[in-house]
Amino acid sequence: MSCRTELSSWQALEKSAAALQSTHLKALFAADAERFAKFSCQIPGVLFDYSKQLVNDQVVAQLLQLAKECDIAGWRNRMFSGEKINFTENRAVLHVALRDRSGRATMVDGVNVTAQVNTELEKIKRFTEQVRSGNWLGYSGKAMTDVVAIGVGGSNLGPQMVTEALKSYADNTLRVHYVSNVDGVQLSHALQGLNPETTLFVVSSKTFTTSETMTNARSAVEWLLAAAQQQTAIAKHFVAVSTNLEKTRAFGIEDENVFTMWDWVGGRFSLWSAIGLPIALYLGFDAFIAVLEGAFEVDEHFCQAEDAQNIPLLMALLSVWNTSFLGHTAQAILPYDQALHMLPAYLQQGEMESNGKSVAFDGQTVPYTTVPLIWGMTGINGQHAFYQYLHQGNNIVPADFIASLEPQIKVGQHHDILLSNFFAQTEAMMAGVDAEAVTKDLTAKGKSADEIAELLAHKIHQGNRPTSSFILDKVDAKGVGRLVALYEHKIFCQGIILQICSFDQWGVELGKGLASAIEKELFDDAVTNPHDSSTAGLIAYYKARRQ
Ligand code: F6P
Repeated sequence: MSCRTELSSWQALEKSAAALQSTHLKALFAADAERFAKFSCQIPGVLFDYSKQLVNDQVVAQLLQLAKECDIAGWRNRMFSGEKINFTENRAVLHVALRDRSGRATMVDGVNVTAQVNTELEKIKRFTEQVRSGNWLGYSGKAMTDVVAIGVGGSNLGPQMVTEALKSYADNTLRVHYVSNVDGVQLSHALQGLNPETTLFVVSSKTFTTSETMTNARSAVEWLLAAAQQQTAIAKHFVAVSTNLEKTRAFGIEDENVFTMWDWVGGRFSLWSAIGLPIALYLGFDAFIAVLEGAFEVDEHFCQAEDAQNIPLLMALLSVWNTSFLGHTAQAILPYDQALHMLPAYLQQGEMESNGKSVAFDGQTVPYTTVPLIWGMTGINGQHAFYQYLHQGNNIVPADFIASLEPQIKVGQHHDILLSNFFAQTEAMMAGVDAEAVTKDLTAKGKSADEIAELLAHKIHQGNRPTSSFILDKVDAKGVGRLVALYEHKIFCQGIILQICSFDQWGVELGKGLASAIEKELFDDAVTNPHDSSTAGLIAYYKARRQ
């Protein structure tokens, strides 16, 4: 397979990037009254506007040609049909099968995975109803009031992000708490005020070996047993989501209380599986299904829409354009909806763990920047923190702005005030403020010519900062499902275009291995490993002073 830089569309895009460097977005808008109509598209529940990206007709056509030359359609079919496209781990990539509401069968190694998914969904339904109705009883015969979900990375971020996004719809049947950090402070805070008799732990770990999760789970057992004083309490208060039955058994969890996972579901794409169990417990099974339905709508769109109207494909192409061609190495995620406050953290894992790599399918180092650094927070809070950098910093950071037509809770005029900021910020980033406008403004405010000369450069905003805007109907269960699936398919397309193996994460393993060796040094002074002088010095400093 040839390197992407040899494709004719890639080479044409390089020329377009050089030509467009001196073009201002403001001029593109001035030259084309139809720009919004031309560079925006809609699916039920989502408007996507990319007219404030630094593209013109020619660039969009070249990007769509790039998608063709990279055979996105072929790769998409391979993924959906269960081919083992995660070739570094020899696995299929089938998170889409977890939310396939069509009833069609998907086969992996001769096994109908759709049937397996449906069986597991039934199990989630039964369990959720049992716990929420008060029929699941703890060691002292009481119903559950609280769920503590223990897991990290893909076994935490998705469910927690969705739980936060949908908490306006919770009926308070159960409270849900998340523990991901091995810093004991988080577990202690989560357990504060909880009653061991009425607390259910969901330990989510695909492997059931992740050190942070297992440490938290063991401490949770100690907390439970200190009150229960009977080993049998573990089975009544712990369930697991895992592929590793041997380990869950050894932990004391009964097989029937283990929700299964499959190797064809990557951790960061797993919220649609039993990893989403805390969502179902918190909001009810129907709400969980609605999240899957929203995602399935987007799967259908991704498979069926023309390339020029295909939102995830366009998102990926624009990211590649901004990063690999225009050289913008960061990307901000800016939700103007408090419900989505965890989305930036969630997408950090989604995009950076998937595509934050630098070798192509063939193992050769790629000659282009792959994915940007993903960061962000809710837009309004960001405005009062880092937007200064977005407007006037000397690095350009393309941004995704996300808002909703309808707030989850209507309070006076809050939503219009929120949305006025959403509209104003993308307009300001696009247009900026030139010297003439600043001079006019300062003159109107009565400033002298000397004062204006002193202030002018500081008040100019260059603008020309690319943004995409998303307007969701509402952040409800379907809306969250749609939004996450859009980004998942963006990540998939990005990986194919950049020739990155999106579904492994070898880069996470190195640190894990070193940490477990150092752990032994910290527990036992007799154990020492060779280190560089900095690491050795830091370890020695810590060991000499720790309490
Ligand atoms: O962060 C690395 C990672 O392997 C993620 O991909 C995964 O989601 C997470 O660790 C947790 O793994 P597990 O579910 O096996 O505990």
